[in-house]
Amino acid sequence: MEELQSYTYDVLVIGAGGAGLRAAIEAASQGARVGLVSKSLLGKAHTVMAEGGIAAALGNVHSEDSWQAHFRDTMRGGKLLNNWRMAHVYAQEAPERVMELERWGAVFDRTPDGKISQRAFGGHSYNRLAHVGDRTGLEMLRTLQDQAVYRGIEVHMECIIHTLLRDGARVSGAIGRLRATGGFVLFKARAVVLATGGLGRLYKITSNSWECTGDGFALASLAGADLIDMEFIQFHPTGMVWPPGVIGLLVTEGVRGDGGVLKNSRGERFMFRYVPEMFKGEYADTEEEAQRWLKGDGAARRPPDLLTRDVVAKAIMQEGREGRATPHGGAYLDIASQRSSDFIKSRLPSMYRQFKELANVDITRESMEVGPTCHYMMGGIRVDPETQATTVDGLYAAGEVAAGLHGSNRLGGNSLSDLLVFGKRAGLYATEHANKQRGEPVADEAQISQAMQEMLAPFQSSGEEGPFDVLRDLRETMQQYVGIIRNEGDVKKGLEAISRLKDRAGRVRVTGTREYNPGWDTALQLPLMLTTAEAVALAALERRESRGAHTREEYPGSDDAFSKVNFVVRRSGEGFLVVKEPLPEMPQDIKKLVE
Ligand code: FUM
Repeated sequence: MEELQSYTYDVLVIGAGGAGLRAAIEAASQGARVGLVSKSLLGKAHTVMAEGGIAAALGNVHSEDSWQAHFRDTMRGGKLLNNWRMAHVYAQEAPERVMELERWGAVFDRTPDGKISQRAFGGHSYNRLAHVGDRTGLEMLRTLQDQAVYRGIEVHMECIIHTLLRDGARVSGAIGRLRATGGFVLFKARAVVLATGGLGRLYKITSNSWECTGDGFALASLAGADLIDMEFIQFHPTGMVWPPGVIGLLVTEGVRGDGGVLKNSRGERFMFRYVPEMFKGEYADTEEEAQRWLKGDGAARRPPDLLTRDVVAKAIMQEGREGRATPHGGAYLDIASQRSSDFIKSRLPSMYRQFKELANVDITRESMEVGPTCHYMMGGIRVDPETQATTVDGLYAAGEVAAGLHGSNRLGGNSLSDLLVFGKRAGLYATEHANKQRGEPVADEAQISQAMQEMLAPFQSSGEEGPFDVLRDLRETMQQYVGIIRNEGDVKKGLEAISRLKDRAGRVRVTGTREYNPGWDTALQLPLMLTTAEAVALAALERRESRGAHTREEYPGSDDAFSKVNFVVRRSGEGFLVVKEPLPEMPQDIKKLVE
């Protein structure tokens, strides 16, 4: 008989990054019995990799900033495809969530007059990113982790969830396994919050850490939840492109926010040529004016190096296509010629060490070489903008796995505050939901036994496939066919490849023991990764236009026919249905804010 550890909670939170921790803290504060599942060790979630800062209209550097301006920037950054109400709630609540973090012990950098310092970032009209050098996510997670431990939340570390359990139409828990022992673990819960983060690891070149395999999108979808905006995957313009072992590693936008400029192989500041119509007049169009901004002239327009990420990433690609790439296929990022060595070392200590130790480049004297890297998923689980409830009873989602706030492109820094604002809301409303349930949650024996069989299957398989071979081919497929610039033929090839990879994933065989077996982890994650990859490719095929982070070669412009629609990806039998649905209408008074 397989041993099965079993726990019962009011609220089960899956994912222990910023959103999961904030949800768990809130649920515990509301009196719920909370279980928190962490794929890695507590305090090591991908949130720690967030570098440049957390966006909130505190107005510490520019007193003109306001939630209205933050709302407007967020909507325009997302090319108005955002769920307006999520952006509205978010911009209004972000400042209080940052101040709360400070009250809980986060030590932010300071302005000369002692306020929380805020730096510039792409697409933000004002200096809006509260920061801790270039290690903001680390400080945020440390603070949240302290709060969670202080509240006595039960944490299940190195636990990977395999399936969400259902009691009729509602979610009633989850089943997974512990990496350390290979033992199975059952969680029964009145409400479940998914906060599993993103999917960067579906791509060959990514800034995301190993946990970001997109499990949550698939878990939710297989449990019946709607996914939206799956075509919108953000490629951060500045990842490392050399040496090979660190390709994709993030180079924070804080470098450009603090004055760094992009140049091509000819030494030209090419971004002046790429200011889109929508932003003309808002960004400097001469080097002289950009220099004035750098020297602190508040009336000068911002340098175009600080355009939104979708624009900058595509500009770097275009320079390469036209033969002006750097030796390793990217662009130069130069802060050495713009700022003093002391300034660079104090504001960007991690970048300084990262380049020195990994690439033997001294960024206080030399340019960095950078290029696009898969960074963030704008799409994901469809949620109610007030409560974060998904379309399945009892299931909530927050953070990167949830969709709506960022539309077709997220502004840098908006992720950390998203985690706090909507993590808190998810924890609150999941607890409310849990309190309304009568009796203990029910876990269906047949579902439990099926999940355990599935988890053991790779050891019993007579197949010949190795899990890492299938994983490598999936990541190459996504990079090549569903990457930064797409076309119908390529996406179709991607879908065919995904279908073949599904067959291969069914023939994967794993050897060794059940304790810390990465082959087993990969074998079990492959079906979820392939499900998520398929949802991305299907949505990418349907959006026949270019908007934000989604670029279709054969439709280079945006099309009004797609300007107010989401593509909903919904499970149907063994496959998916993709349905076009109108976005919620913005009320007149809110519309005025973005016009
Ligand atoms: O560039 C960065 O520091 C990334 C921040 C973000 O994605 O929000």
